[in-house]
Amino acid sequence: MVWELFNLLKTAEEEISSVQNEKDLENWRIKYLGRKSPLSLFFKELKNFSPSEKKELGEKANEIRKKLVDLYEKKKNEFQAENNLNFSLAKKDKKANFFDITQPGKRIPLSHLHPLTLVFNELTNLFGNLGFQIVEGLDIETEYYNFDALRIPEDHPAREMWDTFWLAPKDKKQKSKLLLRTHTSPMQIRFMEKHQPPFRIIVPGRCFRYEATDFSHEIQFHQIEGLVVDENVSLANFKSIVNNILMTFFRKNIEIRFRNSYFPFVSPGIEVDIKFKEAKSSVYKNKWLEIMGAGMVHPELFQNVGYEKNQWQGFAFGLGVERLTMLKYNIPDIRLFFSSDIRFLKQF
Ligand code: PHE
Repeated sequence: MVWELFNLLKTAEEEISSVQNEKDLENWRIKYLGRKSPLSLFFKELKNFSPSEKKELGEKANEIRKKLVDLYEKKKNEFQAENNLNFSLAKKDKKANFFDITQPGKRIPLSHLHPLTLVFNELTNLFGNLGFQIVEGLDIETEYYNFDALRIPEDHPAREMWDTFWLAPKDKKQKSKLLLRTHTSPMQIRFMEKHQPPFRIIVPGRCFRYEATDFSHEIQFHQIEGLVVDENVSLANFKSIVNNILMTFFRKNIEIRFRNSYFPFVSPGIEVDIKFKEAKSSVYKNKWLEIMGAGMVHPELFQNVGYEKNQWQGFAFGLGVERLTMLKYNIPDIRLFFSSDIRFLKQF
């Protein structure tokens, strides 16, 4: 009987070598490994043998079964590999020969300049066209330049206009306390100490104030400081420059108003408001909105930096960059600028 099985293995081997497709392979499997195959029948018969014969014959039959299964698996794998290859070749072929010209192109995501950067670029260009030189200060200032040199002594109530982030002193010898600058005005002094008039400069930069945040207040924001010093400079010059810049910047119908104000380092001090006659958002429509502080440079500042008495006049201003950007692009909340929210940034 076992010999029959060995013969069976031989024919099975011969047959499988001529199997050409998966259907034939399946038929082969049913014939040699299926429930009605001679092998299965043989296993069923085994129970009729004595235990020792059962063991010997069983082992032999199992061996043959294993060989048949191996034959089957091997062939199956061959077909599988062939299929995979055919499939990828077909895919490649299809890809290579097919080009759908009606497909819309893929949009490549482009990065954007931050709205504040856009406004900085535009304003520095506009001022540049009017002959202004750009200088930059540092975010960390001393108490002297941020306050005292600007006529804001320690006990002066005006200091309360600028809630300050103070920096812990490095050691006891440190002369002037350090702080995060609350405005860009300290650069007025630093520049004048090193340069003789006439000049016109702008100082774009970041400022900090220790304030509760809301839609129009942030602890960090930006200003563009301006300083013009010459022999015959008046508020009329300032007004014409501001008109020129703002009209070009907003490119729409705005009204500009100059209003009395107070800053210790200018005299007289003024504030500039603008009003949109037609504004997209009702928040801004027909309302006066403050956009900068300004004024004629206080003579004491000139004296302190050693300028010749009564020879020079100048005006200074500090523009709120976030404010201008919000107005220009209809941005409802100042906190959006520092949120890094891509949905916000994508719009610019
Ligand atoms: N530095 C002032 C502020 O931060 C603005 C200002 C600048 C006022 C220059 C007058 C002249 O509020």
